[in-house]
Amino acid sequence: MKDAFLFGAATASHQVEGGTHNDWTKWENKNAERLAAAAKKQHLVAPWEPYLLAKPLHPLRKENYISGRACDHYSRFREDFDIAKSLAHTAHRFSIEWSRVEPEEGRFNTKEIDHYKEVVRALRERGMEPFVTLWHYTLPVWLAEKGGVQNKDFPRYLARYGGIMAAAFGEKVKFWVTVNEPQIYSSHAYLAGRYPPQKRNLFLAWRSLRQCVRAHRLTYRAIKAANPSAMIGTAENFTYFDAVTGIANNILKFIGERLWNTYLIHHARGSLDFIGINYYFRSRIHGWYGRNENIRVNDLGWEIFPEGIYHVLMALKKYNLPVYITENGIADARDAQRETFLREHLAWVRKALRDGADVRGYFHWSLLDNFEWDKGFWPCFGLVHVDYGTLKRTVRPSALAYKEIIETWDKA
Ligand code: BGC
Repeated sequence: MKDAFLFGAATASHQVEGGTHNDWTKWENKNAERLAAAAKKQHLVAPWEPYLLAKPLHPLRKENYISGRACDHYSRFREDFDIAKSLAHTAHRFSIEWSRVEPEEGRFNTKEIDHYKEVVRALRERGMEPFVTLWHYTLPVWLAEKGGVQNKDFPRYLARYGGIMAAAFGEKVKFWVTVNEPQIYSSHAYLAGRYPPQKRNLFLAWRSLRQCVRAHRLTYRAIKAANPSAMIGTAENFTYFDAVTGIANNILKFIGERLWNTYLIHHARGSLDFIGINYYFRSRIHGWYGRNENIRVNDLGWEIFPEGIYHVLMALKKYNLPVYITENGIADARDAQRETFLREHLAWVRKALRDGADVRGYFHWSLLDNFEWDKGFWPCFGLVHVDYGTLKRTVRPSALAYKEIIETWDKA
């Protein structure tokens, strides 16, 4: 019998747990003031609405950029999983905070490993399949100080940590994501100068991507050695490159797809049991640079283009691997567009399924409002609203619409 399509939401440790100590924590403390000041300048042109500025954590406040206790998901994971279960989720994607389990090089903290065992147990008790990400952008301080991803031994470090985690969880965890969005990480940290260590160097960006491929391949082997029945993939950021017309535009589209979307998939063939995709928007190739129509945008100004998910799923058919949508979501503080966003994207997913794409699950980004990296807390991606003052969780109406979609998926 075919396994049921999995439905759930995703989070990442640094964005929700609170109390982390890693390269990002250090960077935030150094950069919060600068980010708030830069936001002030951009304000002249930014599409921020007064309702965003009325929130306690808004783009112009320094506090917005410090992750601090975040959603305190580290202590409240059971409560959060109760909510996910009440919303009919059957799976959940989360990441292990590497800096917690290996705070010093080669010294693994059993107490923290036990914490994540509890997290997995809590999911299983609620009938949710865990999807575990090993590395979602943040690095232990010792590793960042040794050059992070650029250190020649980075692949070995990730593989050692992955092997230890796979051995600790055993059969309890089947699905593993080794690396989250190597393209975003490499380009933001080493080319755009946005994420730590804030370099602008094409060679380093390229090297970072290569290192991620190597790290994935080695980690794949380490996880398999500990758990031969594990299913292992990555979560790739997928843009739908939409070429308008003309040979030149189509060449650019090809390059975009090959270099951005499928670089790792291509180079890690033989070390992938599934493909994970994070789909947020399209990039319309029109002349040298993509100009989107931007008729419908989210709070961050990203174009909403549901049809794009269909095209990226169809393009993956040639790899003959199961596909999981490991992220897809919208920054929408007022919850004005999320329900339609969900309905439309999932309708295109269904069409892709009918047209032969082997899609097996969908994780909405995110379960909770959370810390959106260099943008801080103000963008609200959560199915569940978090009041950062009281930490109270409130289920948004769109989360109930998602619940209804999940419950009627097989009947439709
Ligand atoms: C990342 C998340 C992030 C989300 C929204 C993805 O690129 O994996 O960490 O919060 O997009 O920007």
